[in-house]
Amino acid sequence: MRLLVTGGAGFIGSNFVHATARDRPGVRVTVLDALTYAGSRFSLSAVENSIEFVKGDITDAGLVNRLVAESDVVVHFAAESHNDNSLTDPWPFLHTNIIGTYTLLQAVRKHCVRYHHVSTDEVYGDLALDDPGKFTEDTPYNPSSPYSSTKGASDMLVRAWVRSFGVQATLSNCSNNYGPYQHVEKFIPRQITNILSGARPKLYGTGKNVRDWIHVEDHNAAVWRILESGEIGRTYLIGADGELDNASVVGMILELMAKDPDDFEHVTDRAGHDLRYAIDSSTLRDELDWQPRYTDFREGLLATIDWYRENRAWWESNKDAVEARYQAQGA
Ligand code: NAD
Ligand code: DAU
Repeated sequence: MRLLVTGGAGFIGSNFVHATARDRPGVRVTVLDALTYAGSRFSLSAVENSIEFVKGDITDAGLVNRLVAESDVVVHFAAESHNDNSLTDPWPFLHTNIIGTYTLLQAVRKHCVRYHHVSTDEVYGDLALDDPGKFTEDTPYNPSSPYSSTKGASDMLVRAWVRSFGVQATLSNCSNNYGPYQHVEKFIPRQITNILSGARPKLYGTGKNVRDWIHVEDHNAAVWRILESGEIGRTYLIGADGELDNASVVGMILELMAKDPDDFEHVTDRAGHDLRYAIDSSTLRDELDWQPRYTDFREGLLATIDWYRENRAWWESNKDAVEARYQAQGA
């Protein structure tokens, strides 16, 4: 199989490339990544001899057409992915998430190439903290941020290209991932690297907002399951029943890093901050026989802390710029 992975130098994409090289030696991987601030060649160092890397933009129709024509399958991870950035400057989110997806869809349509679209549970908006319900494949789209609205728009393009043009596509909407190679702007790496840098973790607002955590390896195993057995045109929700409020996650990080439980700060809340995400992944489990393997969050978090401790060179050069950006926002 000739597999084109967009965004393969980012967090989830690089873990996907590692897992593919490890578990599926027969797959020939090409990564297309623009190496924005969020992408790093160093995330692919361990596999650089077994993949092809192309630095380029997914909105470059000529390049995308050429690479898609040489592929059997496209998995599309590339995106502007951080909510806070989308609040300060939405344009790159429209450009990459909407125009980029459109460009890929036109290419897979032209060359009849199988396509998997990686999306987020945030397209469904949020749930009340006391709501017993979870998101399902039938939950109406109701995105809150510029990021999630552009992801929702890209999902709609995929659905339309399946229906109107017969594109062979599947979609997945996953909850919050954690694990190695996640950019230090994101919640868990930011708190771990704050402590490793001698700063205190920063909690937005009350800290009661809930996220549904899944290990990145479990997300990527689900993507492979959908690629191999998913039904064309279908959307699959990916989640591992990992609901935790942010204050509890900060508390666990402080404990695992041998810090005082009160050694954190409350900072300015995110505008429009979604309260709670929760995924009902029973379709994926029942129909495609997928199960998460990393079910002990504490254990996964400890391994993630160890990874950031052992890989300072990977994150340290980005840390000051990220914190300066947050400081300007009072966060
Ligand atoms: P990330 O920000 O870590 O990585 C994004 C990658 O895309 C980077 O390598 C970047 O260089 C590349 N990229 C950005 N714009 C590009 C462009 N125009 N052309 C080519 N490459 C470009 O993101 P992530 O957290 O790994 O997320 C990957 C995908 O998974 C995204 O589509 C995101 O919406 C989705 N997702 C993420 C999560 C999560 O918890 N992180 C959960 C569910 C879904
Ligand atoms: O649900 C899937 C989504 O998860 C993905 O689509 C996004 O790409 C990914 O970034 C993530 O979005 P969130 O906004 O939930 O993730 P983030 O890591 O930015 O924040 C997680 C929670 O932690 C959120 O409630 C905000 C809070 N937070 C975040 C930061 C950076 C803090 O309390 N303090 C912080 O310093």
